[in-house]
Amino acid sequence: MLSYRHGYHAGNFADVLKHSVFVSVARYLQQKKSPVLFVDTHAGGGIYDLAHDYAKKTQEFEKGIGRLWPFGDDMPDMLKPWAEIVEGVQKGGNLSRYPGSPFFIRRSLRVQDRAVLFELHSTEVKTLKQGFRGNDKIVAFHDDGLKGLRRMVPPRGPYEAMRPLTLVDPSYEIKTDYEDVPGAMLAAWKRAPQASFIIWYPVIDRERTEKMIRRYQRSGIKKLLRIEQGIAEDGAVRGMTAAGLLIINPPYVLADEARAALPWLHEKLGAGGKYLVKELVGE
Ligand SMILES: C[S@@+](CC[C@H](N)C(=O)[O-])C[C@H]1O[C@@H](n2cnc3c(N)ncnc32)[C@H](O)[C@@H]1O
Repeated sequence: MLSYRHGYHAGNFADVLKHSVFVSVARYLQQKKSPVLFVDTHAGGGIYDLAHDYAKKTQEFEKGIGRLWPFGDDMPDMLKPWAEIVEGVQKGGNLSRYPGSPFFIRRSLRVQDRAVLFELHSTEVKTLKQGFRGNDKIVAFHDDGLKGLRRMVPPRGPYEAMRPLTLVDPSYEIKTDYEDVPGAMLAAWKRAPQASFIIWYPVIDRERTEKMIRRYQRSGIKKLLRIEQGIAEDGAVRGMTAAGLLIINPPYVLADEARAALPWLHEKLGAGGKYLVKELVGE
């Protein structure tokens, strides 16, 4: 039984980092004309109302997107394409909604691109499917995203000639995710070693997170970048003190862009903790 609902967390500091990096990588891949296949293994509901009871209860968005809104002119390059999409979904200039990964994908699709989304929660997937009804470039499945990864990477059938960009964004609510996600991911990377993958991770128990990251680092992956944003020192508060991304086959510009963006982001978020941009494995 899944209890996690992303509506409680939409627009928090972790979403800001995850989505800005994701859109930035997408834009880089889209510099080439050949089609991109977006694969979102843990899609969520698609877009979130910040006046909903879930968002009001945790107020997490206020310490994330809320600290950056309204957007100024000093925004680092890495965040600009993300900010344009966030701005585009607001009504009347007020911060009222925050897009989820499927919505960032939708706004990123060119004529030649396609997207395949997976979501296991029955209510979330219903919202997701409703939101994308009639869009023939996006297909959403009520299914396990890790199984979906096996089906979609490398792309087959009608998607065969496409370059996959996969976002793997589990909540790690189920502790076996710390084993199962790297297992499924590393198998996907072995099948498609040139493909682009972005894997999100939380820092709740630092040792558990580092153990998982070491597994990726020692797997034989040739290019692996780590970007992490902290909001508190490890163990200083209950729950998540930092969140990060592992990017397999990152664009060569991403590390430098992230090095410029993270100090800015850290200052805007006004949080404690540390940030990190590190090439864990370089070619
Ligand atoms: C962190 S949220 C996703 C947020 C979304 N990617 C975004 O950025 O807006 C994780 C989602 O994964 C779903 N989920 C959990 N286990 C799953 C699985 N094995 N396959 C697909 N979805 C799963 C949860 O129901 C939840 O909606």
